[in-house]
Amino acid sequence: MAVFDQIEGLQDDLRLVDVYVDEYLHDESGHTGLRSVLNEINATGGKKVRPMVLLLAGRFGPKWPGCRERLCKMGAAVEMIHTASLIHDDIVDDSPLRRGRQTVQSKFGKEMAVYAGDFVLSRIVYYLFKEASTEAGMLLAKTVEVMCYGEIGQLARSYDTETTIEDYLSNIFGKTASLFVAACAIGAMESGCGEKTSMLLRQIGEHIGYLFQLRDDLLNVTSSARQEGKPVHSDFMNGTYTMPIIHALHHPAGRRLREVIHTIGTGAAVSWEVEEEIQNIVNSSRGIEFTRETIDAHAAQARDLLESLPKVPVRQGFLEILDLLAAG
Ligand code: IPE
Ligand code: IPE
Ligand code: MG
Repeated sequence: MAVFDQIEGLQDDLRLVDVYVDEYLHDESGHTGLRSVLNEINATGGKKVRPMVLLLAGRFGPKWPGCRERLCKMGAAVEMIHTASLIHDDIVDDSPLRRGRQTVQSKFGKEMAVYAGDFVLSRIVYYLFKEASTEAGMLLAKTVEVMCYGEIGQLARSYDTETTIEDYLSNIFGKTASLFVAACAIGAMESGCGEKTSMLLRQIGEHIGYLFQLRDDLLNVTSSARQEGKPVHSDFMNGTYTMPIIHALHHPAGRRLREVIHTIGTGAAVSWEVEEEIQNIVNSSRGIEFTRETIDAHAAQARDLLESLPKVPVRQGFLEILDLLAAG
C-alpha cells in the first residue's frame, strides 16, 4: 500500500511485529504436529490491521519514538489474540478457507485446532507477564473476555430471525471493535498520551472496529468466493445474521425471508435459486445500502475525531488508512 510509504518507518515496525510473533510462537517441544500448525500460521499471516492501528496510535504520545520497540511487542500480542480467535472461530463455523488457504481446523483437524488456539493464547499470557505493564496485561485479558461475550452473544442469536440490529451491534463490539479499542488504548498508554488524546484514540478505534466488521460482513453478502478467500454467504448459511440480513428481516419483505429461512432449516445446503431469492429480498429491502451507509457514518465519525487529535505527521497517513479500511 502506497500509503505506508508516507508514514515513515511503519513498514519496519510491522516487520518487527512479525519478528516478535515468530519469537513468541517459537516451540521446541518436539511435537511435529504442533510445529506444522505453527509453520502454517506463520506462512499465512493476515493484514495485521490491529497492530497497524496500535502502532499509529503509539505515534501520538511524547514517548515516541523511544517506545517503538514496546509498541511492536504489544502489536505482536494483539495480533496473536486475533489469530487465536480466528483459529477457534473457524472450528465453530466449520470453515474450510481462511486467507484463501485451508484453515487449521480443516487441514489438521478440530482437536489440533482447539489445542493450537489454546497454545497461542497461553503464549500471549506468558509474554504479557514478561513484557507488558500490568495495566496493558489487564486490559488485554479483559478484551479477550469481551470478545468471548461477543461470540457467545452471536451464538445465542444463531438462526434467530427475531434478532435485532442492537443485538448485532453489541455482538460485533465484543467480537471485533473491543480489540481495536484495546489496540488504540495500548498505543496511547505506551507512548504516554494524555487522557484527552487517549480517549479520542479509543473512540477512533471503536469506530474502526465497527466499520471493519460491518465491511467484512457486507463482503460476505456481496462478493464472490474468489475475491474473499472464503465461501460466499457463509455467515447466512451458518445462521449468523449480519446487518444486511437483519435489516431485510425487519423490512416488509422480511416475511418472505423468514419463510425461506424456516423452509431451508439449519445447516442445509441451499440451491442457487433459493440463494438468488435471498439476494433479491436483501436487495429490495436496501439492506446493502443501509449497511454501506452505516460504514460510512462510522468512517465520518472517526475522521472527525482524528481531526481533533494533535497535528503530528502521522495524522494524514492515519486518515488515509481509515479511508482504505472503509472503502467499498
Ligand atoms: C477477520 O479479520 C475477522 C474480522 C474481524 C472481520 P481480518 O480481516 O483482520 O483478518 P486477517 O488477519 O487479515 O486475515
Ligand atoms: C471472526 O469473526 C472472529 C472474531 C472477530 C473474534 P467473523 O466470523 O465475523 O469473521 P470471518 O468472517 O470468519 O473472517
Ligand atoms: Mg467466522
